[in-house]
Amino acid sequence: MITTTYNYQETLAASVRANWRVEDIIGGDKRLDFTRPFMPDSLARVNAIDFLDHEEKIVLNQIRGYGYLTTFGLVEEFILPFVLDHVRPHLNEDDYRTRALLQFASEEAKHIQLFKKFAKEFEQGFVTYCETIGPPEEIGKAVLSHGPLGVALVILGTEWATQKHYLESVRDDNELDPQFKSLLRNHWIEEAQHTKLDTLMVQSLTDNLTEDQIEKGINDYAAIGGLIDDGLKQQVEFDLEAFQRAAGRMLAEFERKQFRSIQLQALRWTYLGSAMVHPNFLATIGEFSPSARKRIEEMAPEFS
Ligand SMILES: [Fe+2]
Ligand SMILES: [Fe+2]
Repeated sequence: MITTTYNYQETLAASVRANWRVEDIIGGDKRLDFTRPFMPDSLARVNAIDFLDHEEKIVLNQIRGYGYLTTFGLVEEFILPFVLDHVRPHLNEDDYRTRALLQFASEEAKHIQLFKKFAKEFEQGFVTYCETIGPPEEIGKAVLSHGPLGVALVILGTEWATQKHYLESVRDDNELDPQFKSLLRNHWIEEAQHTKLDTLMVQSLTDNLTEDQIEKGINDYAAIGGLIDDGLKQQVEFDLEAFQRAAGRMLAEFERKQFRSIQLQALRWTYLGSAMVHPNFLATIGEFSPSARKRIEEMAPEFS
């Protein structure tokens, strides 16, 4: 049983107060500065690759920034239908619930559009094209073919991870391009309410579940994690190719090896591990199943 103190009315009020427009964040004189890094190094992990020079590190960092836009874009594309499916069967039961969840869905649709706009500007300004995993509809379909508890846990973890990314790595990093930093900041501001609504979604999904049903939810969570992890392995290969095109040089075999091992762990940490260690994520899971919490804690080191 989850004993959260979050509620729909307060979440809705906070969300309405925080709400921003896409036009306030990108467009006009608000442009990306391609002389600066886009991502904090704790997520990009380019400084650990010892054969890159300063310019090459910035180039790879920016490739990772583009990947952040497209990977979060993918996740948001399955959050949106999931939240709509969750709200629809109970539309007339609690007006605050209905409004808070529809506001959540609407913000996620806005984030999809914002991330696409940033990605487009990147494509216009960066030296080469960068391939990314997808298409989003296909990945979304594969994720949503799992049970709702597994999907809800992935969403809960991912949204808490955006908090960790912003507060621990982005906020105090003054090297970052201010425009990209503003994207991450504004995204987190709205995600802050989503994490609460996710907790309420998980609460309603776990009420009255048997041990077996909870175990299936955790199995689904692990299976979706495996699916995302396969995508990340492919993304590392795309990033390696994009890097070589952008840097105008082919890496030697031992360099490619180092690139792959450091970057795969960087991607795993960004999209999976930083969620799996988040204390609020673990606390929510621990409340309905201490053994599920333990299982996720045991999985986490592989993704750090
Ligand atoms: Fe979002
Ligand atoms: Fe969100």
